This record gives sequence, structure tokens and C-alpha cells, in this order.
Amino acid sequence: MALLAALPVASAGTGCSPREHREPPPVTDVTAIREVDPGGVPGLMPVTRSGGGDRHRLFASYPRISGAGALSGALARAQDEQVRRFTERTSRGPSVPELNIEWSLTAASGDVVGVRLVTSAFPGGTTRRTFWYDGAAGAVRSSADLVDGPGRLAALVRAKEPGAVPAKAGPEAFSSLAFNDQGDLVVEFSDDAVAAGTAGAAEPTGTPGRVAVALGHREYEPLLSAFGRRARDAALAPRPVLRLGPPESPTLAASRSPAPQADCRTAKCVALTFDDGPGPDTGRLLDALAERGARATFFVVGGNAAAQPELLRRQRAEGHEIGNHTHAHRDLSRLPALRISSDIQRTQEVIRSATGHGGMLLRPPYGAVNGTVTGVARSLGLVQIRWTADPERDGDGAAAIAGRAVALARAGGIIRMHDVRPASVDAVPEILDRLARDGYSFVTVSALRAGRRSGPG
Ligand code: NI
Repeated sequence: MALLAALPVASAGTGCSPREHREPPPVTDVTAIREVDPGGVPGLMPVTRSGGGDRHRLFASYPRISGAGALSGALARAQDEQVRRFTERTSRGPSVPELNIEWSLTAASGDVVGVRLVTSAFPGGTTRRTFWYDGAAGAVRSSADLVDGPGRLAALVRAKEPGAVPAKAGPEAFSSLAFNDQGDLVVEFSDDAVAAGTAGAAEPTGTPGRVAVALGHREYEPLLSAFGRRARDAALAPRPVLRLGPPESPTLAASRSPAPQADCRTAKCVALTFDDGPGPDTGRLLDALAERGARATFFVVGGNAAAQPELLRRQRAEGHEIGNHTHAHRDLSRLPALRISSDIQRTQEVIRSATGHGGMLLRPPYGAVNGTVTGVARSLGLVQIRWTADPERDGDGAAAIAGRAVALARAGGIIRMHDVRPASVDAVPEILDRLARDGYSFVTVSALRAGRRSGPG
């Protein structure tokens, strides 16, 4: 069991006096990679592509970082390639294929950035790839570029985890190198890159787990390249400050005071909801809503929200409601209860730390629920919210989306759109103007529900 073998907990202090009370050492995963809070990186904007339907389920996100154009380009191309291969696959069998790409920052300090992409495919396995950006050279580095001798690294890894690196592995076998909190070098592998018979710690789902090893400072130091040393120092910086030239000027308009909320016991109300953000188009969507005095509900993805706490604060300040759309946007109906619960709670914490309020609403990705999902939502005190109208179709322009939204709108209805789709954001002014002419008020989901509860129907 690779993970368990790599779990020798930080060596017990030898300087402890025998009279000192000894706590049992905490069980920590030494292969857990150190992450940088993306909310503290100016000029970082998550870019998301998502889609869901009968044929496939897709959610893919990466961070765009101003001053690191080559990195953003490489991440976008890597995402495009994975999405292309996924959508080319034809679905056979009863279950809908799912592709999910999530990211985290492994470093963001000085002129060095590290971005880890974890791609989960169903059916299929998980691939892990960490990109490094060398700001001094303006160039993207692979994980293998952190070391001078991939052959020597392979020998070190094999000593800890025989079979983790195939015999004739080249540098490409080392797709993800990063650091843990103690400064160890973590070498992790994609499921399909691991030799047969090397089983990582099994996940509760029964799928094989992640194979990774942590190499101590003395072991890996002689192998580091000059860039590898810079990457290590950036990853371990106690207070990361990224310096890659001036960040894009923030596009946030000054917050306006919230529009008055209609009373849905008497008014003709509709709730506009926007999923999967925030993203590059969320700011101008907020502008359009504010100009027309409309309120809406944003079902944010925790991974994106953590990178843009300022946009969440603006949403709340302008009277919108923020709901939970999970952290990683996985199909929850395929996950065990513990994983569902931690994914939802992580997003609650992101929303709470950005806005001071946790939110009451949950929209499970793809609307995919089962008894386990419903039970977890209930235990966390969250109300699951679906929708009555879904006006977006792949490839649609703004006019088509607006036309469908207006046609599908009903009093008391909930319209589901995505603020990560530029065409949908383009459609919003027309939707608001036409529905306002039809007498609609635009309210949050909770206001709509309040009117429904106390109303005659
Ligand atoms: Ni979604």
C-alpha cells in the first residue's frame, strides 16, 4: 500500500524529556501537496468550461494569471486536449461519462507559479499534472524540469515504491512534482502511469488510489535543477507574494446598494440563477443586474469562489443570494457520503469566509442526486434547489438563449443559466428587459420560496 508505506509520521522528537506527556503523533499524509490560497493572488481569474446533458458531463477549470500569459496558454491547451479526447469518446452503456478537471496552486511567489491539474474521468481514472512557470524566463517548465536527472529520481522513487516508475520511464513519467508542508518533494503519478500491481491506498469508491511518494530534503536536494531550487523556495514561502508585473486593473465596479426585493406573495416573481462561477464574465453580469435593479442567485463552485472572494463580496453587497454548487463540481451521485459532505462543507467555508454568511441553498452539479446526496444535504441543513427552465443549448448565441428564457419563464419559476458562459451573460440584458415588460420581478431563490410558503398556493 503505497500511501501507507509513505506515512511514517514526522519522527517523534528525540529531545523530549521522558516526563513530558507524549501526544500520539498526528496521522498526516506526507504526500499531501502544499497549496497556496488563490484568493491572495492578485490578477488570478478562474476560467471554466462546463456542460451537462444526456451524453456527457463536463467541468473543467484553470487559473488565468496576469503576467503569466505563457502559463495560461499552456493550461488552456492542456484542458482543450483533454476535453477534445473526452468528447470524441462515444458513450456506451447506461451511465453518462464524466470529465472533471480541477486545479490548485502549488506555489505563487516571486516570479514562480505552480499549477496542479487533477483530471478525473468516469469511466477511467485520474491523471495528475503540475505545470511550473518561470517568470524570469517567461517560460513554462514541466515537473521533470525541477530535477537534473530524471534517472536518479526514478531510482529514489523505486527504492520507496517499487513499480511506481516503469523500467524505461523517461522524463514524462514525472508529470507532477510539488512540495509538502515540511518541504519534502512529493512525486505523484497518474493512475495509468503506474505499473500494474502497484496499488495506492484504495478509495472508498473501490477505485485504485493515488500513488505518490515523499522524498526528504537530503534525498532530493542533490537532484534539484537551478529552477527546481527556485520552485522549492517559492512553494515554501511563508507569505507568498507574486511579482509578475502589474496585475490587470480590477474590473469591479463600486458596489451599489441592493435593489428592493419584491414581495412574491403579491408580485409576479421569477428567480434567475447562475451556476459554476465566478469567472471572467461575472463582473459585467453584476453590472447588468444592477443597472436594471434585478436580484439573482449565484450557485458558486468552491474552487472558483476561493480564487475570487472579492466577487462574492460584491454579489452579497448588491443583494444577490449565494448558494453552494460544491467545491469540485463532481457528479455527487457517484461519490461516497463522506466525500459529498466534505466537498459541500469546503464550499460553505469558502462562502462564509468571503462574505460572513454560509448560505442556505445547495444545487448538486448536473442536478444529479440520490438518497445519499439528499441525506447529506439535509444533515448539513441545506435546501436542494433545482430549476424549472433551462434555456441554454450548446452553441447558442445570446439571442437564442434570451428567446428561450423568455418563452420558458413562469411566475414562481427558477431559470438556470451559467455565468461562465459569455453568451448567457450577453443574453441577460434582453431577458431582464423583456420579462420586466411582462410584469416580472427578479428575486433571489429564498425570496421566491418565502412567497411560495406564505402565499395562498
Ligand atoms: Ni454546474
